[in-house]
Amino acid sequence: MDKLYIEGDKKLNGNVIISGSKNAALPILFMTILTEEKIKISNIPKLTDITVAIELLKSLGAKTKYQKKLLYIDTSSIKIYSPPYDLTKKIRASIWMLAPLLIRFGQAKIFLPGGCKIGSRPIDLHVKVLIKLGAKIVLEKNYISASIRKPLIGKRIYIEKISVGATITLMSAATLAQGTTIIENAAQEPEIIDIAKFLNTLGANIIGAGSNTIFIKGVLKLNGGEHRIIPDRIETGTFLIAAAVSKGFIICRHTEPKHLKNVLIKLSESGAEIETGKDWIQLDMRGKKPKSINISTSPYPGFPTDMQPQFTLLNSISQGEGIITENIFDNRFIYVSELIKMGAQIKIKNNSIICKGVSNLYAQNLFSNDLRGSATLVLAGCIAKGITIVNNVYHFKRGYESFCEKLKKLGANIKYI
Ligand code: UD1
Repeated sequence: MDKLYIEGDKKLNGNVIISGSKNAALPILFMTILTEEKIKISNIPKLTDITVAIELLKSLGAKTKYQKKLLYIDTSSIKIYSPPYDLTKKIRASIWMLAPLLIRFGQAKIFLPGGCKIGSRPIDLHVKVLIKLGAKIVLEKNYISASIRKPLIGKRIYIEKISVGATITLMSAATLAQGTTIIENAAQEPEIIDIAKFLNTLGANIIGAGSNTIFIKGVLKLNGGEHRIIPDRIETGTFLIAAAVSKGFIICRHTEPKHLKNVLIKLSESGAEIETGKDWIQLDMRGKKPKSINISTSPYPGFPTDMQPQFTLLNSISQGEGIITENIFDNRFIYVSELIKMGAQIKIKNNSIICKGVSNLYAQNLFSNDLRGSATLVLAGCIAKGITIVNNVYHFKRGYESFCEKLKKLGANIKYI
């Protein structure tokens, strides 16, 4: 069941409930290794990446109970510091086990992680920050092993390139280090704030998360506690695009409008009428075709790279010409050839996508290669003329909870075959 049948030419209208953030939940799950007390986490999205993360924790010896988006986890029984290759390779997020296992056991061995094929995706910054705090790292062809002889020592560390991943690794390591760590040039994503909130609930001393400088005063141990994961801003953005490209109307509920400021500005620029409340966003195209827009991706609070493919779809069927420039990943345009097959007029020049809007896209047999690209192709199928087949749909199952069911409620005619 890894193909999707989509009858196109549909207007997507209605309400959608947004799930918890994948990118906040994954690191938080692995940070439970930092404490031996019990943890309860709510609003965990039901996704294959999350299932893999829970399996990874269980493979180390953790006890878990996961039902109705609620996870009870007790990592006191963990005895193993080297997670198995077959699970580690499935998700990029498995790199976030390195620091917690290292702190807990004084050593860790992690196979090099998998994840979306959207560029070279090195892990050098994760390694550098751990070495700066005093860890010894050995890099082999397929795995990293890390060890410490004495507790890590807090330091002022400037991360040379803004990286969500490396900021998270450093937050994990610094929480139980001796003394204070100051992270300069830190990533400022909402997920970083959520992680700090989670760790502080357990007794950590972190201030400044969400700005470019984070102060972490090391504590001796972390306790148990409860945490609720923030809403998924990229899922929200994807559903807003679903309505925008189909000239429809949508209300995304259980979301956080503040996390999508730049996305909402660009949608308004394209002609969408946007209204927001405390935990909802409404988009109305009033039956009109969107206007093309220019976008340049950059670290938060800039425009998110994870919304780049969806906005390329928007430009493909908009009035006029728009340019989207990708500044975070070096190979995030694989889905573009599929949109061209559907009739989109797109040219790639260096790291920019130049797109001249067309009246209609036409159904095709499509192949998806990565998470956000695959969701984009599904939306393209919903508005194209004819029957589209999207292959390799396991990609969007990694990051979108009940994607097809939610789209069906909005009026999509879509089924697994
Ligand atoms: C996370 C998100 C991903 C999002 C990305 C940027 C998760 C699970 N994934 O990925 O959805 O697209 O942030 O918002 O949360 N880099 C290095 N060396 C490193 C680490 C990163 O050079 O050691 C580079 C990357 O290749 C990229 C840039 O830094 O060019 C930013 O990557 P980073 O912010 O770390 O992304 P991820 O944490 O992998």
